[in-house]
Amino acid sequence: MISLDAPSRVYINEVVLRDGLQNEAAFVPTDEKIRLADRLSLTGVAKIEVTSFVSPKAIPNLRDAAEVMAGIARHPGVSYCALVPNAKGAERALAAKADEINLVMSIGERHNLANMRMTCAQSLAGFRAVMDLVAGSGVKVNGVIATAFACPFEGTQPLSRVMWAIESYLALGMDAITMCDTTGMAFPSQVESYCGAVRKAFPKVPLTLHFHDTRGQGLANVMAALAAGVGSFEGSLGGIGGCPYAPGATGNVCTEDVVHLLEGCGIATGVDLDSLLSLSREMPKLLGHDMPGHVMHAGKSSELHAFTPDASQKIPCL
Ligand code: COA
Ligand code: ZN
Repeated sequence: MISLDAPSRVYINEVVLRDGLQNEAAFVPTDEKIRLADRLSLTGVAKIEVTSFVSPKAIPNLRDAAEVMAGIARHPGVSYCALVPNAKGAERALAAKADEINLVMSIGERHNLANMRMTCAQSLAGFRAVMDLVAGSGVKVNGVIATAFACPFEGTQPLSRVMWAIESYLALGMDAITMCDTTGMAFPSQVESYCGAVRKAFPKVPLTLHFHDTRGQGLANVMAALAAGVGSFEGSLGGIGGCPYAPGATGNVCTEDVVHLLEGCGIATGVDLDSLLSLSREMPKLLGHDMPGHVMHAGKSSELHAFTPDASQKIPCL
């Protein structure tokens, strides 16, 4: 047991099609995206962020958002969501029949200006229009707080700023909150303390954590959030991803590594790790480069090596 608050079952949201592909140098063909979504649907993940309905000039790689949403086969146990920055994006996401939309604002004003070309006040005003559009549609709205722990231009964000964003989102009628460490600047101590405070203040609001592994702290931050009672995490197949509007941004925590870690700790994820691994091992061919995931290269801890006297001589023993 990690801590008394740690849940025994967590939910995994796969974001490779959005966070992962938005930051790739090359455009991944639409039919390959659809194929990837359809295979991910069979792995046991709770949710797939299929794409984003943003300006195609801002994120050219996801300019085929409508076609991808129209082409995927929807699996009954999976929720299909899309990132949305403004009312125009919400209209497109509703037309594409997204189950959920992720409305994103960075609480670091400067990152919001760089990424969304809006102040936080302008983002929130736009979200009001989005909530009017979504009303009565049955589509769930997740309020996403980017740079929730630290902003690459401003540094550490105070907890009060996170609380302000959550209160603003809930006042607009949003259903759930996602806190993102957009550029991998958070430390486990900060994560445990912020997540604990947020859960205490908003115990009934579903909370998801989204980490990047930019400084090698991603999995430690997952464990810290788990210890604070968080039961929902986002990850990207192979650990690719990142925000093109944040200097030095790198990939999300790797979904297979998160699942391997949690299942190894006795925490159920509902995800079939072998299916995920076979998918991630095919990805380098599709992308034309290797990926940073660990388990896809090393194999699962349970996969032992054949022991021969010859092999033993090759294993360094310190
Ligand atoms: N979907 C498609 N097109 C959109 C759009 C949307 N959601 N929102 C705006 N546009 C189009 C406008 O129609 C306009 O098109 P035109 O030049 O052909 O007339 C153009 O984009 C500019 O619109 P404007 O409202 O002035 O937006 P902007 O240039 O100030 O950009 C955003 C604001 C939010 C649209 C843009 O910064 C964006 O899409 N950012 C998302 C970045 C992102 O996804 N980052 C990573 C994920 S966190
Ligand atoms: Zn991200």
